[in-house]
Amino acid sequence: MPTYRPDLDAVPSYTLGKPIGEVARELGIDSIDKLASNECPTEPFPEVVEAIAASGTTVNRYPDSGQYELTKALALHHDVEPSSIWVGAGSSEVLRCTALSVGGTGTNAVFAEPSFIMYRIATLVAFATPIAVSLDDRFDHDLDAMLAAITDETTIVYICNPNNPTGGIRSGEDIRAFIDAVDESVLVVIDEAYGEYVTDPSFASMIDQAPLLPNVLVARTFSKIYGLAGLRVGYGVGHPDLIAKLRVTQPPFAVTTPAQVAALAALPLRDSVAERAEANAKGRSYLTAELSSRGYRVANSQANFVYFEPQDDAVGLFDALLREGVIVRILGKGVRVTVGTPAENERLIHALDDVVAS
Ligand SMILES: Cc1ncc(COP(=O)(O)O)c(C=O)c1O
Repeated sequence: MPTYRPDLDAVPSYTLGKPIGEVARELGIDSIDKLASNECPTEPFPEVVEAIAASGTTVNRYPDSGQYELTKALALHHDVEPSSIWVGAGSSEVLRCTALSVGGTGTNAVFAEPSFIMYRIATLVAFATPIAVSLDDRFDHDLDAMLAAITDETTIVYICNPNNPTGGIRSGEDIRAFIDAVDESVLVVIDEAYGEYVTDPSFASMIDQAPLLPNVLVARTFSKIYGLAGLRVGYGVGHPDLIAKLRVTQPPFAVTTPAQVAALAALPLRDSVAERAEANAKGRSYLTAELSSRGYRVANSQANFVYFEPQDDAVGLFDALLREGVIVRILGKGVRVTVGTPAENERLIHALDDVVAS
């Protein structure tokens, strides 16, 4: 047997769902609604599908490793310099490479819990020690406790805004105050994977501030509102010196040509993206209201999912919903459901009623 790193035994596995077709076959159900991975419930925009198809004839060549066109377009989109943009194979790759670039034995990383599992995985893979700080009793980041958790060995702090799995945000003012309170030797990562869905006016993206600060990286993705989860493309925004240091750990040719051209085609579609955000907000309000009226404790979500805590066994509820053809995600004591199409959202609520009634 090969000799493996023993410390990797502590790395949690990322929960991967079975293919929908397989679940449907096993359960003998015609249709399954997957509301488990916070994906966009509708197909990619037609312009994007066309761009992906057209790129098919070019894939005998390696992709542009510097993602020149996409980087330039993102810089224009966000009104920053191209040297402040770093494109990766999903924002997960940006997060993982970042952890590798600032981690190492003897260092630690501070993040909230429950939050995006990738922070813990990336920390451990980078030989660093995770320091998890519980969310407050409103399911939000406890920024004071996170500040207090930082030690001399901390090299990175992750803030997930909105937070996955609970969907809550901290205001722009709070995030900026947190950044100001952290020593410049500590990298602050603001993960805004769900930023485009936020409707609360107190939210502020840190994208315009990050390039001006030495130690702030904002992570964004095309996997969510742009509907490109299957292609793997995301990006980071930060000071050019920071980006140059962080990207050292990224493998060459990480972002495929179809992914680059799809992102390039999706980026200018601001009106269509705004329509998706609006539809999501309606679905989110519907789910929040329906779940609350059934007595569940529901987190105040600003993302494309809603988190609630059932009175009893979340795992039992997951299994029962699965038998009804709806896949959700269990996270600790809570259940996270992705906002789907109106029909999917209604199916979930009806399934929940059926499960509770039986
Ligand atoms: C908070 C958060 N950040 C980042 C990601 C990663 O997105 P991707 O790697 O698809 O860009 C996810 C995915 O679910 C997420 O929830």
